[in-house]
Amino acid sequence: MALPNALSAAQRIRLIFGPILLSSLLWPSFYQSFLDTLWNSLCYTSFYKWSTFETLWTVFLYAAIEGSLTIVFMNHPEWRFTQPRTPTSKPRGMRRPSRRIGEGLVYIAPLLAMDLTMIKKFADVELSQMLVSGNYDISSLYLNTTSSSNATLSFQAPPKTYLIPTLHNFTLTSPLQTTRALPLYAPSSRRLVTELILSFFIYDTLFFAFHLSLHYLPLLRSFHLTHHSHPSQIHPQITNQLSLFERLGLVMLANFSLNVIGAHVLTRTVFVVLFVWLLVEIHCGMSLPWGYEKVMPRGWGGGAGKHMRHHVGGGEGYEPFFCWWDGVWERVVRGMGEVK
Ligand SMILES: *[C@@H]1O[C@H](CO)[C@@H](O)[C@H](O)[C@H]1NC(C)=O
Ligand SMILES: [Zn+2]
Repeated sequence: MALPNALSAAQRIRLIFGPILLSSLLWPSFYQSFLDTLWNSLCYTSFYKWSTFETLWTVFLYAAIEGSLTIVFMNHPEWRFTQPRTPTSKPRGMRRPSRRIGEGLVYIAPLLAMDLTMIKKFADVELSQMLVSGNYDISSLYLNTTSSSNATLSFQAPPKTYLIPTLHNFTLTSPLQTTRALPLYAPSSRRLVTELILSFFIYDTLFFAFHLSLHYLPLLRSFHLTHHSHPSQIHPQITNQLSLFERLGLVMLANFSLNVIGAHVLTRTVFVVLFVWLLVEIHCGMSLPWGYEKVMPRGWGGGAGKHMRHHVGGGEGYEPFFCWWDGVWERVVRGMGEVK
């Protein structure tokens, strides 16, 4: 189907994704067989069952997305906020992929260490399945309960404690946590989309508060300097220019935003795609014709322009993806100015 040319790139994306989003909320039955098939094939893939899946998935997507947006950056100097001196000139400080293997390892090491030592705990997974994945002998659980009906009950009820970390039961035959237990059933499209919307809203709120404290608390400020020190304009590689503290904070807040609403593992997998995309996009240093803030209703999305102004100016624009909390914050600051 050819869409009318008069539509902008952002309007076309809206025409495609708007109906998908709405229908997945309103008519979940339409998507269920697709989601079931997808989920069943994922559950059969050994890679998807690895405890390290999410870490590797994030790194893979990051490399793919940052790489693609860097190519767009080089090919479209006219979209950049800062016009280059010659159309082919690279911003100072931009590095080749081969120079960044160390950066990748620094990112991956602490996360892999956690993946390989702690039991993965996800919503909708039976406690017994998690314990088996963590090399615990679950027959002892049965012995501890007097009536067998109680024991079955405690396995079927969703584990209330899944937010609390548990170490793998290290033995010679199972020295590391290598797998993760997955839910039996696929989510509905309604659940998937609702969880995505909620988790982004929660993350955006939490990171806004974290980012604000990185700028205002003297103790934390030094951890954020890494991210703000670049010799020239902002470009996609700045996304991952983070101190270890800030990077772990970012990952933990994203993880918490998913955990606190009991997000399905499939939601988590999709979340990483959108999350990494948005993170690189707000750092891309370009006004993309298809930027998400142009696709979303006006005034909802922050976008690369707002984030670039945060990087050069320092003030305002603390909220990573959207605009609501920045609006509240600006009113608070203005209010305080009037009081003085
Ligand atoms: C994310 O949360 C889950 C569930 O509590 C946990 O198993 C996992 O280790 C966490 N991952 C990171 C990177 O914190
Ligand atoms: Zn900042």
